[in-house]
Amino acid sequence: MRKKIVAGNWKMNKTFTEAEDLLFGIADELQQGRPEDVEIVVFPPAIFLELANDVATENGFFAGLQNISEHESGAYTGELSAAMVASAGGSHVILGHSERRTYFGETDALIAKKIDQALKHNLTPVYCCGEVLQEREDNRHFDVVEKQVSEALFHLSEDDFAKVVIAYEPVWAIGTGRTASPEQAQEMHAFIRKVLAGKFGDAAASTAILYGGSCNAANAKELFANADVDGGLIGGASLKAVDFVTIIRSF
Ligand code: PGA
Repeated sequence: MRKKIVAGNWKMNKTFTEAEDLLFGIADELQQGRPEDVEIVVFPPAIFLELANDVATENGFFAGLQNISEHESGAYTGELSAAMVASAGGSHVILGHSERRTYFGETDALIAKKIDQALKHNLTPVYCCGEVLQEREDNRHFDVVEKQVSEALFHLSEDDFAKVVIAYEPVWAIGTGRTASPEQAQEMHAFIRKVLAGKFGDAAASTAILYGGSCNAANAKELFANADVDGGLIGGASLKAVDFVTIIRSF
């Protein structure tokens, strides 16, 4: 059985008191009812990780970071290591988000190193892949995603691969209000699973593949209803407790 996962990527949003309000808001909402079989993760800005982890642990969910360094430790001013995240109670890390690729020049080769660091310190990597609009219009979206997946993950052992979560996030859908249709999401998720099965065999059947990109309380249900969509990585709609928990309840 594959895990169902709903994760909230807060990006660079919220001050300390706003983060507290959101975390306790999520906890309160979850107490009104939640599906027991959905794993819930929040990805706040790093400075709120300890706070988030405290609330998450008390309330049956998880907290992680939106990025880590590819290095183990040392003179890398401003960076955070996988070991630090794990020691502060973080359990997951988003890697390869398109905003990191676009604004910070992250390549698949660099992201592969970050995935290794995450796995070394027992963090669950949530590996993001997805094409830009032009690539879809040129009908290159399958090739682009296959390359991203193979370059960042194919060096892993089967045991390590089994710990990875994938998020398919078409870049044209992120923060635009333009969601992939349920058919487009299912088509790409099934393709990703096929690519993974070609390398890792049966293990791919157990990989959670999340959809991300303008997923919200109104469209989550029809996205999650697809056979290969195992949950969502939610940006904007994860910044409001009611919306986030409504998405969780969409399974
Ligand atoms: P969005 O962001 O839900 O605001 O489109 C998703 C993401 O970037 O993970």
